[in-house]
Amino acid sequence: MANSSNPNSSSPLESLLRRRRMTRRFSGGPPPAELTEICALALRAPSAGFSQGSHVLILTQNDLKKFWQISGSHEWFTSKSPGVLDASAVVLILGDQDAYTERYSRPDKAGHGLEDPDHWVTPFWLTDAAMAAENLLLLIEEKSWGALLFGLFGDSRVVLDAFAVPPSVSCVGAIAVGYRHPDDQPSGSPTSRARRPDSEVVHLGHW
Ligand SMILES: Cc1cc2nc3c(=O)[nH]c(=O)nc-3n(C[C@H](O)[C@H](O)[C@H](O)COP(=O)(O)O)c2cc1C
Repeated sequence: MANSSNPNSSSPLESLLRRRRMTRRFSGGPPPAELTEICALALRAPSAGFSQGSHVLILTQNDLKKFWQISGSHEWFTSKSPGVLDASAVVLILGDQDAYTERYSRPDKAGHGLEDPDHWVTPFWLTDAAMAAENLLLLIEEKSWGALLFGLFGDSRVVLDAFAVPPSVSCVGAIAVGYRHPDDQPSGSPTSRARRPDSEVVHLGHW
């Protein structure tokens, strides 16, 4: 099987997927209106039952300062990757389980017990939000801006409460956004770990 890094595959989407990588040094960032526009576009991801329970919370300026402090990520990135703190925004990617339990209690979906969130083997509010996150990463790469997806450290509820996010909503990740610093280099685990070959992870017919 051809490796997915085959440079002969060159549609715009294929090359975008190949070149996307995390940025850990930023230098300013886009106007909030431009970021808002692509966040809205990113939410046009598949959505189970068209529940549309994915949301984004865009944090800039004072809200961003507050986020860095209360999330504990200021301390973390100061020691690990201080250039991340120069991002102009952080976008929290959120999924609202209530939108799904409500949708799956409607007549065309009822009968599977999914009005109870504990009965979901796969919580689709997290699945859908993760797809929106990837959309946003690709849209940012397409604009040649930079992004870093990271998880919330510790108790994410503390952060979400601070920004009035309802209790039914959870966060699948935070995306730092800004212009990629000209000196930003590939960093993190891909610089010390090889990409697994397609033959190890793409299974035909059986594992
Ligand atoms: C769920 C998730 C959590 C991550 N958390 C962090 C993080 O805390 N800090 C960080 O520097 N990168 C984080 N990353 C980025 C990964 O390290 C990165 O995606 C991976 O090494 C592959 O690199 P690439 O995205 O540049 O191809 C996270 C990625 C994902 C999907």
